[in-house]
Amino acid sequence: MARNNAHTCTSCGAQSAQWLGQCPGCGQWNTLEQQAAPASRRTARGERQPRAVVPLREVRELSLQRLSTGIGELDRVLGGGLVPGSLVLLGGSPGIGKSTLTNMALGHLQRSGRRTLYVSGEESAEQVRLRAERLPPGALDVPVLAETDLEAVLSALAELRPDACVIDSVQTLSAESLAGAPGSVGQVREVAGRLMELAKRSATAIVLVGHVTKDGALAGPRVLEHLVDCVLQFEGERERPYRELRALKNRFGSTNEAGLFEMRQGGLVEVLDASARFVAEATRAPGSVVLAAMEGSRPLLVEVQALVAPSELEQPRRVVSGLDRNRLALVLAILARHGRIGTGAADVFVNVVGGVRTDEPGCDLAVALALASASRGVALAGAPRACFGELGLTGELRWVGHPERRLAEAAKHGCADVLAPPGSGAPCEVATLKDALAVALPRSEASPQSPSERRATPLAAGPRIAAEAAA
Ligand code: TYD
Ligand code: MG
Repeated sequence: MARNNAHTCTSCGAQSAQWLGQCPGCGQWNTLEQQAAPASRRTARGERQPRAVVPLREVRELSLQRLSTGIGELDRVLGGGLVPGSLVLLGGSPGIGKSTLTNMALGHLQRSGRRTLYVSGEESAEQVRLRAERLPPGALDVPVLAETDLEAVLSALAELRPDACVIDSVQTLSAESLAGAPGSVGQVREVAGRLMELAKRSATAIVLVGHVTKDGALAGPRVLEHLVDCVLQFEGERERPYRELRALKNRFGSTNEAGLFEMRQGGLVEVLDASARFVAEATRAPGSVVLAAMEGSRPLLVEVQALVAPSELEQPRRVVSGLDRNRLALVLAILARHGRIGTGAADVFVNVVGGVRTDEPGCDLAVALALASASRGVALAGAPRACFGELGLTGELRWVGHPERRLAEAAKHGCADVLAPPGSGAPCEVATLKDALAVALPRSEASPQSPSERRATPLAAGPRIAAEAAA
């Protein structure tokens, strides 16, 4: 809580006892502002009222009566549905489907007899209707309020007392009493704070839609992440139909869960057979590897594709999608050192197919094998196989969580031959990257050398690369 004289950063919410030019929390300049002391709990006569302090055992049990949104994947990511009185922040880049998802959820709730309200600060009521016409029945029954004034929204909420409300988006509302423009840190903070008060008081579940900046952070309101109960991130590639919903923070559930959707003509559709689809679509050409990943508590088979091509750039490209860039750099280094596959002079592209993100260490082996396979121009040997495992810096393969679930999922989808670290219970366990390469990409006389390997030999480099580029 803010103390008297405390200074709070308007960007990240960090606090400091004295004013500082640069925020110690986020490093921004001139963002510290003095906060008024919070109003203390006083009785009518002005005396401080002591709060009862009791052992945890005697604290009233919280019975969470969750509201099912009717969208299974969304409920699962929320931890079982919306919690009354909670504040959820839904972030995602423009056009990803935030309005579609929230409108559909409210439609289901409205149909099941709940009171809902959709506050649109971005689009007119007519525009919201236009979208709702494409969505499943129920979406058109949702009461809509096209409004950007916070006071007006609060009084509508106080009057209608909905069970669930969506504010689309938190950056478009503003309080007249504050000077800043809508979307500024001060405004966003005020808007969210006032809405939270109301949510707690009236047990309304409020979903705040928020935009993200180019680098993926929620624009401006990093402070919001501390304030809200749950932060959901909706991501995917705009040009592709798959969308992934993840919980980055959840006071009422796990942050491990992820839900997969597909954007279709009639709105977002849950993808329940994702593994089957991705395995069926996997090309199994050189550079293609099936990864048995974990999406939270759920196993998911995805295809990892890699392309390694001679580069004409001083600093060759490293393009990655669905994966952490640093992770790729690490795998490339391990591959060079322990797999003798150098890519220093090649452009490297790695893609997790379908717009899915894999943010777990278990993807290392798949990335390494995809790169090796692409680099040598040879497809993985043997029966259709999947793999998983983390790579250590000394080239060893490390155990990762839930091997049994990964193996079962792979077996279910026809990839019984799984390459995995020791102790996983897989049919083919390998202890090092070197062993994995020997099993998955055995060298035969016929296997051609990779462009990057060729380039490593100085004499052969010039003319051969030139021939290749011309080809
Ligand atoms: P939208 O929910 O408006 O995105 P956001 O609120 O995150 O900015 O969705 C935008 C895109 O979704 C838009 O490009 C059109 C597409 N879309 C469909 O493909 N099918 C549909 O049924 C709907 C409603 C939208
Ligand atoms: Mg929108």
